[in-house]
Amino acid sequence: MSDTATLEINGNSYELPVKIGTENEVAIDVKTLRSATGGVITIDPGYKNTGSCESAITFLDGEKGILRYRGYSIEELAEKADFLEVAYLLIFGELPTKEELDKFHSDIKHHSVVSEDIKKIIDAFPVSAHPMGVLSSLTSALTAFNPSSVDVNSDEAMYNAIVRILGKFPVLVAWTMRKKHGLPLEYGDDNLGYVENVLKMMFKSPNKEYEQNPILINALDKLLILHADHEQNCSTSTVRITGSSHAGLFVSLASGISALWGPLHGGANQAVLEMLEAIKADGGDTKKYMAKAKDKNDPFRLMGFGHRVYKNFDPRAKIIKVAADEVLGDLGVEDPILDIAKGLEKEALEDQYFVDRKLYPNVDFYSGIIYRAMGIPVEMFTVMFALGRLPGWIAQWREMRLRKEPIGRPRQLYVGETYRPFKTINER
Ligand code: CMC
Repeated sequence: MSDTATLEINGNSYELPVKIGTENEVAIDVKTLRSATGGVITIDPGYKNTGSCESAITFLDGEKGILRYRGYSIEELAEKADFLEVAYLLIFGELPTKEELDKFHSDIKHHSVVSEDIKKIIDAFPVSAHPMGVLSSLTSALTAFNPSSVDVNSDEAMYNAIVRILGKFPVLVAWTMRKKHGLPLEYGDDNLGYVENVLKMMFKSPNKEYEQNPILINALDKLLILHADHEQNCSTSTVRITGSSHAGLFVSLASGISALWGPLHGGANQAVLEMLEAIKADGGDTKKYMAKAKDKNDPFRLMGFGHRVYKNFDPRAKIIKVAADEVLGDLGVEDPILDIAKGLEKEALEDQYFVDRKLYPNVDFYSGIIYRAMGIPVEMFTVMFALGRLPGWIAQWREMRLRKEPIGRPRQLYVGETYRPFKTINER
C-alpha cells in the first residue's frame, strides 16, 4: 500500500498522506488539502466516508460483524465481564485489577447522591414528558449543582467529573422512571453492585424489601455491556463535538442523550416494540409490514433493521437474540411479540430487498423484548440504552480531550444566492 494518495484538480497534482490503522484500515489524510489547494474541501453528508478522529477505544468491522472494546471481543466481554469492569476498560484502556475496580466503585458510590433540589426540577415536568427529554435536561442541570465538573483541565478534575456522573446518572435514570409512575424518589444501597443498585433504585416498592433476582441482574449487565460503546455513531460524535468546544462533561453527555433519542438511533428500541405491537394488533400479518417497508412511497421502515456500518449480522443482535430466549425462559414469560419478531427476521433474511441492501437485525431488534420481560416500561428503553452508552461517551470525550483535538467545525459547500442588493420593504 502506497503511503500517499495523489489528487488532481485543474491540472495540479497534490500528494496526500495515507494512514493505516492497527486493524489495517486505510484513510487518506486531507488535513492539509484546503491550505494546499487554496480552498478545496471534501464533502460527505452523513459522514459515510469521513473519519472524524483517530481513536483507540472501539474497533468494529461491519463486513465481518466484529466488535471489540480496547481489543477484547464483545462476545467474551458479554459472557465474562461485568458492566463496571467494561466501563473502566473503555474509559482507562485496560481491564482493572481487583484493587483498581474496588477503588473505582468506591469513588463512584461516594458521589452517588444528587442535590435534593433536582427533585424540584423533576416535579416541574408534566407526567407525560418523555423520559429521554427529562434525562437530557437533568444531566445538563447537574452542571449547575457541580460547577467544579465544568472546568476539567487536569487529570484529577477529569477523574472527579467521571466518577460523579457514573454515580449520579443511575439515580437520574431511576427517578425519571419513578416520577412517571408516581413512586417516591429514593436512593439505592451502597452495599450493592452497580447494576444491582440500578435495579433496586428503579423497582423498589415503598412498602416492601427489594428482592434481587440474579436473572435480572445478569440480563441487565449483559445489555449494558452490549450498548457500552460503538465508536463514532451519531450520539458519540455529538458528545465529542460538543466537548471539543471545551464545554463540560455533563452538558456534552446531555447533547449525546438528545442525539440518542431519535428513532433512527437509540430511539429505535422503543420504535421496534411499538412496531411489533402494531403488527400483533393488526392480526400478526408480517407480510403486510414487509411490503410496507419495501414500498418506496411508504415512509415505514422495518425498525431494528439495517445499520450504517454493519453489512453483515450485528454481533450484538446475535447475543441479544439468544439472551431474549434465555431471559424469557428463566423468568417464565411467554411473549407472543418474540414469535412475531422471529418471524419477521426470518422473512427479511430471505427477502431479496433486504438481502440486496444487506439489512440485518441490529442491536435494537430484540433488546426491547428483554427489557419488557424485565418489567421496564417501553418509554424507558432508550433511557436504558443511554445508561449502557454512558461509559462509551465518557471514554470518547476523555480521549478527545487528552488528544487535545481541535474544536469540531466542519466546512460546507455554499449553494445559496450569490450577492444581491438589499430591497426595501416597498420594493419586495
Ligand atoms: N427498512 C427498510 N428499508 C431500509 C431500512 C429499514 N429498516 N434500512 C435501510 N433501508 C433501505 C433504504 O431505504 C435504502 O434503500 P435504497 O438504496 O433503495 O434507497 C437502503 O436500505 C440504504 O439505507 P440508508 O438509509 O441509506 O442507510 P443508512 O446507513 O443511511 O441508515 C439506518 C442506517 C440504521 C438509519 C437505517 O438502516 C434505518 O433507518 N434503520 C431503522 C432504524 C433503526 O433500526 N435504527 C437503529 C440503528 S442500530 C442502533 C443505533 O444506532 O442506535
